[in-house]
Amino acid sequence: MNNEKNVVDTSNWWKNSVVYQIYPRSFQDSNGDGIGDLQGIIKRLDYLQDLGIDAIWLSPVCKSPQDDNGYDISDYQDIDPMFGSLNDMEELIQEAKKRGIRILLDLVLNHSSDEHTWFIEAKKSKDNPYHDYYVWRDGVEGIYPNDMKACFGGPAWEWVPELGQYYFHQFSVKQPDLNWENPKLRREIYDMILWWMDKGVGGFRLDVIDQIAKEPDLKITNNGPRLHEYIKELSKETFQTGNLITVGEAWGANTELAHLYSAPDGSEFSMVFQFEHINLDQQPGGEKWDIKELDFIQLKQILSKWQVELHGKGWNSLFWNNHDLPRIVSRWGNDEQYREESAKMLATILHGMQGTPYIYQGEEIGMTNVKYQIEEYKDIETVNMYKERIEKGYKPEDVMRSIYAKGRDNARTPIQWDSSQYAGFSTVKPWIKVNDNCKEINVENALENKDSIFYYYKKLIQLRKENPVLVHGDYQLLLETNPDIFAYCRNLDGQRMVVVANFHDKEIPFSLKEEGFEVKEYLIHNYREEKAGYLRPYEAYMAILN
Ligand code: GLC
Ligand code: CA
Repeated sequence: MNNEKNVVDTSNWWKNSVVYQIYPRSFQDSNGDGIGDLQGIIKRLDYLQDLGIDAIWLSPVCKSPQDDNGYDISDYQDIDPMFGSLNDMEELIQEAKKRGIRILLDLVLNHSSDEHTWFIEAKKSKDNPYHDYYVWRDGVEGIYPNDMKACFGGPAWEWVPELGQYYFHQFSVKQPDLNWENPKLRREIYDMILWWMDKGVGGFRLDVIDQIAKEPDLKITNNGPRLHEYIKELSKETFQTGNLITVGEAWGANTELAHLYSAPDGSEFSMVFQFEHINLDQQPGGEKWDIKELDFIQLKQILSKWQVELHGKGWNSLFWNNHDLPRIVSRWGNDEQYREESAKMLATILHGMQGTPYIYQGEEIGMTNVKYQIEEYKDIETVNMYKERIEKGYKPEDVMRSIYAKGRDNARTPIQWDSSQYAGFSTVKPWIKVNDNCKEINVENALENKDSIFYYYKKLIQLRKENPVLVHGDYQLLLETNPDIFAYCRNLDGQRMVVVANFHDKEIPFSLKEEGFEVKEYLIHNYREEKAGYLRPYEAYMAILN
């Protein structure tokens, strides 16, 4: 399949696609060990086909000691037995293909596991051929090369006494950073990717790709000087030889950098996955745990800035959720009285924009955050942060408040398929506790109710396929300073669409007519009919204008 080398595909077929993210360990257990697996995903493909998605981004399933739930890979060309086998993976790719769904693999290329053979070899001696696959600095025990910190707590340097050297790790000690300066490592990575392409995967999500060109001596983690040189080479040697969707995770992107990541000439990725809107409820200068109230006006400004500045020059991912983020309906919606309305409202705002929408598993049924005892949390980031903050003298209730709001396990509780004991996820006690609200919030109920969040998402996906204005139209923010309403227009070839949403839980006086608009046709609406002169709590719609 890769015989036509280096042909850039410009058809951009993926622009009207919708991607669904699966976090495999929490999706569906098929063999009664309490952990989701590949056969479990195969069982649920019909459900995903019914929803209408085009591609699945699969969080890592490669061999891994699971220190960071698979984001620490010890063999890039094998499947972790916990999830199944290579045969299961091939079956998943084929079964998905039959249903018009592509499988996107999660490539973790910034670091490997410390149990990868490369690292085991690298540690043997300074002249081992694999030594230079990682980032080392000479030193003395106890005096770190510098004061850089790892994302999951503690110093970013780990001492290896046999070598008299430190290795660098931006994440956990078990995730040593790979040395992209080494062309041999880069070649080995490309060959691995080509091998997966030959197996028929439909694309890749590139984990923390903006961090691969680190320069620890200069304390540079993301956006290192050689970053785009590396990405261009990676893309040319691999992705550009196939017809793929590629998406680069970049916490440090701004719109200018996004023009590079998602350049229309296909020289890097199809699109960028950036977080500027997501960081808005974090105290400036603080960590993600230091929360503040969302500034709604700022949210409108940031989302609109990305719409305008990428139009015609790049391509963005549209998302509220992923496996690292809390559930959006609990975060910026209302997960009690107005759970359905606010989940639909948030979806309307997002799916009305230009870009490729991502739906994170369970979002389509409005799954919510959880409040567990600290012992019930599994995520390395949460567990380490709790310990660190308690040692520093924070009050337990304050630390728990941050975990309830931002902990990554909010997104990682098992999918609620039905109201049975383990929510239809497993027949035994799952690896992480099921949310108690599975009795009411579950797929079975959603499928029975024509007005459910599920069918609303299904309709949004269809609308993107049927209305080019959603894919290609330009963007214009309306009511910029309105503190409750998010409204914007999209225009294409004389056709005009408006998206209107009340972001809050109260009635807001509003009339499209008074704004000078006349509705020709509602495309979607989360209330049955209009209430003249008002938007009700979390009311939202898309409409084509005259
Ligand atoms: C990305 C992943 C996250 C992981 C980290 C390190 O941000 O989304 O889950 O912990 O990279 O690989
Ligand atoms: Ca299993």
